[in-house]
Amino acid sequence: MDQCPMDQLPFTTNGDALDIAPRYRTLQEEQPITRVRTRAGDPAWLVTRHADVMALLADDRLGRSHPDPASAPRISASVLLGGPTGEPDDEHAQHRRKRRLLTPAFSARRMQALRERVGSQVEGLLNELPAPPVDLHAALSVPLPVMVICELLGVPYRDHDRFRAWSTDLASLTDSAASGAGRRELVEYMHGLIAVKREAPAADVISDLLAAQDDQGLIDDDIADTAAMLLFAGHETTVVRIDFGVLLLISHPDQRDALRGDPGLIGPAVEEVLRLSSSNNSVGGLPRYAHADITIHAVTIAAGDAVLLAPGVANRDPRAFPDPDTFDIARTPNPHLTFGHGARYCIGASLARIELQEVFGRIVHRLPNLRLAVPRHELRLQHDRLTGGLAELPVAW
Ligand code: HEM
Repeated sequence: MDQCPMDQLPFTTNGDALDIAPRYRTLQEEQPITRVRTRAGDPAWLVTRHADVMALLADDRLGRSHPDPASAPRISASVLLGGPTGEPDDEHAQHRRKRRLLTPAFSARRMQALRERVGSQVEGLLNELPAPPVDLHAALSVPLPVMVICELLGVPYRDHDRFRAWSTDLASLTDSAASGAGRRELVEYMHGLIAVKREAPAADVISDLLAAQDDQGLIDDDIADTAAMLLFAGHETTVVRIDFGVLLLISHPDQRDALRGDPGLIGPAVEEVLRLSSSNNSVGGLPRYAHADITIHAVTIAAGDAVLLAPGVANRDPRAFPDPDTFDIARTPNPHLTFGHGARYCIGASLARIELQEVFGRIVHRLPNLRLAVPRHELRLQHDRLTGGLAELPVAW
């Protein structure tokens, strides 16, 4: 029985889409590892300081699996990251195997080749913008990452309305039936595509996985699952960062002008957007389960406990970032944890960086007078979606 009332996630925000919930700041100062209640009502440890989040992301005593899945604390109603996955005995080995399989898809050469395509896709989308006011979320932030992931995977863009709807359902944190149905539809769709690619292979990741199928002992279910997961992870996260990056640049005209004046700042500018754009994590952090007792700051996380590692809060830790709430596009170093850290570090980070660089590098020139078409406090955050983010971004110029 727990002795004192626990904080319940998600925390109440102050209504500013660009800020984190005030409770996170208090906890980071006073209780950097603290018990909270998850969206699913179960207890978990919330970790908010940069050094601790980083150390625990690299600690293989934590994983996604649980020795007794039926009794594992639940994180949310989502079928994705809502509870444990994998087997504790070989979780890390299985993960390394899957990761090796995907590594060639994200080779530096392939990414460089994609950069040009991404650039022309951004140009095309900007050329097609209707007269303002425009919902930039719908007109740019969503279609760009969808086009890019379609190209990488070999998914026909014409199917985007269907898989976006499934992906939206899958991201639900409150409706497990919708989340489960979304995943099933996505996986089913990928099975259809596997049949097509088997007949007519092309230069894409699904065809590559099929070519490696026999050597790697993969069954079609593995390939369909991997492709569905890539489709989801490859666009939902990037959509959110395009919205937040545009909002950050609009809200800080001096920084926007500095970027327009010096295109060499695009690299650090994107890192700074990434640092400040993971603040509204609707589940509290990246979920893990302890596979052994772990003591940190005199607190013992017991084997089997759920742990939420909060990159968005760690990214504002004054111990790691001077003036952490200042948006400074020249900030270096910028050791943000938005792509995670350690063995599960985002495999698509270089692709996401390319997309963000191509968008913001162009937008400051093409739309120099971009501004919000509504007051900032009217922007709605999607707290019930795994990936969070804005529902709309109405702008004018
Ligand atoms: C700005 C956009 C993105 C953000 C913020 C992001 C964030 C993350 C984070 C935090 C993780 C680690 C999760 C954990 O430790 O539990 C991760 C893993 C992953 N991401 Fe991303 N991601 C982005 C873009 C992408 C893209 C474009 C792709 C694919 C095209 C992708 C594919 C993946 C995959 C496959 C993993 C799992 C890696 C593994 O388990 O080894 N992500 N991402």
